[in-house]
Amino acid sequence: MAEALKAGRALELRPLRLHDARALSVLVDANRDRLRRWLPWPDANRSVRDSRDYILRMRALARTGLGQSYGLWWKDRLVGVAGFNWIDRANQTAAIGYWLAEEAEGQGLMTAAVAALLRHGFRTLQLNRIEIRAGVRNRRSRAIPVRLGFRHEGTLRQAERLADRWVDHAVYGLLAAEWAGR
Ligand SMILES: CC(C)(COP(=O)(O)OP(=O)(O)OC[C@H]1O[C@@H](n2cnc3c(N)ncnc32)[C@H](O)[C@@H]1OP(=O)(O)O)[C@@H](O)C(=O)NCCC(=O)NCCS
Repeated sequence: MAEALKAGRALELRPLRLHDARALSVLVDANRDRLRRWLPWPDANRSVRDSRDYILRMRALARTGLGQSYGLWWKDRLVGVAGFNWIDRANQTAAIGYWLAEEAEGQGLMTAAVAALLRHGFRTLQLNRIEIRAGVRNRRSRAIPVRLGFRHEGTLRQAERLADRWVDHAVYGLLAAEWAGR
C-alpha cells in the first residue's frame, strides 16, 4: 500500500481503501450534478458497490505501479479524490486527475493536493513529465496547473465524450527540470 501524502496542516491524501467506499459514494451522490458537467463517470457511479468497484480497480492499478488514487481528507473528512490516472514507467510520465466536493471549493485545497502529488511524482516516483488535461471551458480546473507553473502545450480537439457533448482538452505539462520544488 502506498503511503499517505501530507498537503499542509489539515489536508492529507490517503490511498483509497475499501473501507472508504461508503463515504465516497455519499460524496458522489451529493455532487453528481456538478461533477457530470466535466467528468464522464458520475452517472455510472450510483451505489456503494460502484464506489467499491472503483476502489478495487484503482488498487489493482496501484499494485502494478500504473496509477495511484488518493482520497483527500480535510480535517478528517473526505472532500474529494486526486491522483495519477495513469503512470507510464517506460517514459517516466504520468497524468494527474482530480475532483472536489462543492463545500471544499475555493480554498486552495486542490492546488495544495496537486503540489503534494508533484513532490511525490518527481521525487519518489522519479517521473520526468507530469501532465494535466482539462476541458477548455473548465476555468477552475485549468487554473490549477497554471498556478503550479505548468506550461500550456496545446489543445486536443473533441478529446472526451461527456453525457451531452464533446469536450476539447487543454493540455498542460510540467517537466522535472522546470519544477519549482526541485
Ligand atoms: C476543478 C476543481 C477541483 C477546482 O477546485 P478549486 O476549489 O477551484 O481549486 P483549489 O482547491 O485549488 O482552490 C482554488 C480557489 O481557492 C482560492 N484560494 C484560496 N486560498 C488559496 C491558496 N492558498 N492557494 C491557492 N488558491 C487559493 C483561489 O483563489 C481559487 O478561488 P477562485 O477560483 O475563486 O479564485 C473543482 O472545481 C472541481 O472538482 N470541479 C468539478 C470536477 C472537475 O472539473 N474536475 C477536473 C476535471 S479536468
